[in-house]
Amino acid sequence: MTSEQQKTVLVGISGCIAAYKAAEIVRGLQKAGVRVKVVMTDHATHFVDPLTFRALTNEPVGLGLFDDPQDPIHHISLAQEADLFLIAPCTANVMAKVAHGIADDLLTTTALATTAPVMIAPAMNVHMYKNPITQDNIARLKSFGLEFIEPDAGYLACGEVGQGRLPEPEDIVAAVLQKLEGAKTSSDSLGRDLAGKRIMVTAGPTVEAIDPVRYITNRSSGKFGYAIAEAAARRGAQVTLVSGPVALAAPQGVEVISVESAREMLEAAKPVFEGCDVGIFSAAVADVRPAQQLDKKLKKGINDAELQNIALVENPDVLATLGNAKQGQLVVGFAAETNDVLDNARKKLTKKNADMIVANEVGSEKVFGKDDDEVWLVTASGEEHLPSTSKRELADMILDKIVSMGA
Ligand code: CTP
Repeated sequence: MTSEQQKTVLVGISGCIAAYKAAEIVRGLQKAGVRVKVVMTDHATHFVDPLTFRALTNEPVGLGLFDDPQDPIHHISLAQEADLFLIAPCTANVMAKVAHGIADDLLTTTALATTAPVMIAPAMNVHMYKNPITQDNIARLKSFGLEFIEPDAGYLACGEVGQGRLPEPEDIVAAVLQKLEGAKTSSDSLGRDLAGKRIMVTAGPTVEAIDPVRYITNRSSGKFGYAIAEAAARRGAQVTLVSGPVALAAPQGVEVISVESAREMLEAAKPVFEGCDVGIFSAAVADVRPAQQLDKKLKKGINDAELQNIALVENPDVLATLGNAKQGQLVVGFAAETNDVLDNARKKLTKKNADMIVANEVGSEKVFGKDDDEVWLVTASGEEHLPSTSKRELADMILDKIVSMGA
């Protein structure tokens, strides 16, 4: 990559326990070929030593407004150098200051001085985040064109549970790379080998209603499919995720079509698949559904016979239906097996007219809801074993294989 092509991202770090995650964000951006410079607030230096970022970036870390004797207007030079200014983590205080043009340190002065796109990844206690004052500041910043990487919900450092967690570094990196791509970064320089490809991913379980309150479903967190969708989007593909009900946030830059039942999944997937280059079917589609979906709740003591004899009918097979109707698309299915993994996967490859089956072994302790997995890639020409690693890493390896198969 020439230095002309290389983009510079200025990472602003403010004082929050999530400041340590900024080190991984810096590394992730660097791995994608981006030059990174760092500016920290005084409070941030209480959480992570600036030396960490000095060592990671091999660049001086911006701290005080008057620290650099060589550069008396450091905020202006930093602001001009940046192709994008990312503030991560961004505290409520820094957000409030930027929202109102208060520029009382190097980070906030640079935020005011830059003409580059500014992205903000807030991180704070849930009540601070939900506070109407903070929400008003967010709306104000958005109205000025600043972009937000929404905080995740979950367990917060303060012990509370709610929205306010800094998203995973990979997700922040993906959002920044996508924004840089929009700002005309060379696609090759960012490893965007799927640029121009349209990819559909099915993910999550389907739920099949018995009555308005009961349903049958399959065990599935959707994590694998979401990781694949996220990785494909990061690598430049236009991705549509057809997803059953899951507790996961939509990956950055991915269109999500939410469905409930297998039949809805097939209906939603059909037109998307027709316009696709690659279809990846990771959903744990329920094989059967109740023959009847009742409008009224079945009551114990009154509908005992119905409750004890729920007739089931077979659902359509989304992968087999679309695999057998494919017209040039590369089709990747999954196989969740408790035994004879490879044998069963080979049978599914043929029966569902897939080009590859990603096979994994499932069981009481294995796979469901876990972040790690071990899989076999089964194609007509043989098998490849991918040893246990994170679903995120596996997602990239599966996409590498898909690229090598000519997608
Ligand atoms: N699949 C599908 N629609 C179904 C059932 C499965 O699209 N109604 C897809 C899954 O998304 C996966 C592949 O088919 O890509 C295999 O799913 P799996 O549950 O392993 O196998 P089944 O086909 O359901 O067969 P069995 O349960 O007998 O192993």
